[in-house]
Amino acid sequence: MKDIYILGIESSCDETAASIVKNGREVLSNIINTQIDIHKLYGGVVPEIASRSHILNISEVVKMAIKEANINLEDIDAVACTYGPGLVGALLVGLSYGKALSYALNVPLIGTNHIEGHIAANFITHKDLEPPFLCVMMSGGNTQIVHIKSYTEFEVLGRTKDDAIGEAFDKVARIMELGYPGGPKIDELGKKGKPTINLPKTHLDNLDFSFSGIKTAVMNLHHKNPDINKADLCKSFEKTVAEMLIDNTKKAIELTGIKTIVIAGGVSANSYIRDEFLKLKNCKVYMPDMKLCTDNAAMIASAGFYDFINGKISDLTLNAEPDLKI
Ligand code: KG4
Repeated sequence: MKDIYILGIESSCDETAASIVKNGREVLSNIINTQIDIHKLYGGVVPEIASRSHILNISEVVKMAIKEANINLEDIDAVACTYGPGLVGALLVGLSYGKALSYALNVPLIGTNHIEGHIAANFITHKDLEPPFLCVMMSGGNTQIVHIKSYTEFEVLGRTKDDAIGEAFDKVARIMELGYPGGPKIDELGKKGKPTINLPKTHLDNLDFSFSGIKTAVMNLHHKNPDINKADLCKSFEKTVAEMLIDNTKKAIELTGIKTIVIAGGVSANSYIRDEFLKLKNCKVYMPDMKLCTDNAAMIASAGFYDFINGKISDLTLNAEPDLKI
């Protein structure tokens, strides 16, 4: 079979990224221009600044991805582009660029769901991984348990009712004045702490999550006692949210009988959460390579590859969908 080269483009939040992936699983280049240093001045992502920064960087990032992959523009078989979920202005930059390039090269455009991209990061890391499996998606904008039935068929079994888990990490870090993005800061400080502080776990009857209660509990504790041991608070927070994730994962295993578990999204980089998932008994657990946990375009190219070979092609009327679901 002829090799298939997909150009992936990602601009849904604060990373401008482009990548060339061969046959869905082999990364030839993975260029990421992160805006973290700009947004950390404001304590979070400023959407307007994100869009402008994507405009400034997209062209160079795509050129670098093609150069580093050592291919020519004419070798590209399709352009896969994130069209949601994310910040509308940010999404539009990558999508418009991707549409223009696919038109100019006369190759198909593939609108890619960013959440499906995070799941596909595991196809790159684990060459043996194939559906069906359960994926616990934990990112800055989403938290859900998804049944991946095939490369293009997904069923959401449960999702957060309020905050995404990454949002909770970032807000808790902000309360403790640890800096932005908060997840990695909590991860580091938590390594020095003990899980001695009792925090509330929200249990719902189904497979949904809720992280606003624990966020408020940390806020109240910190306000009442500003001298609280921050390392212990970080570790206790990680332990409690990890339990919530694992409890629902066990329920999903029981419900479906599927014992192949995959984690994905920015929070899957958390060292404590990774260790806890590895303790799941009688299951095969997969997690993405650390550099593929947070936003990148290789995962978009990989997800786009499976859409491409299954005939899921978009047209040039495709618009950005900030609230796109699986
Ligand atoms: O997946 P992602 O890059 O963005 C979305 O697609 O939503 O996830 C970003 C989130 C942020 O909330 C960030 O704080 C969190 O992932 N994160 C972490 C870690 N690294 C990134 N959270 C906990 N521990 C980490 N090591």
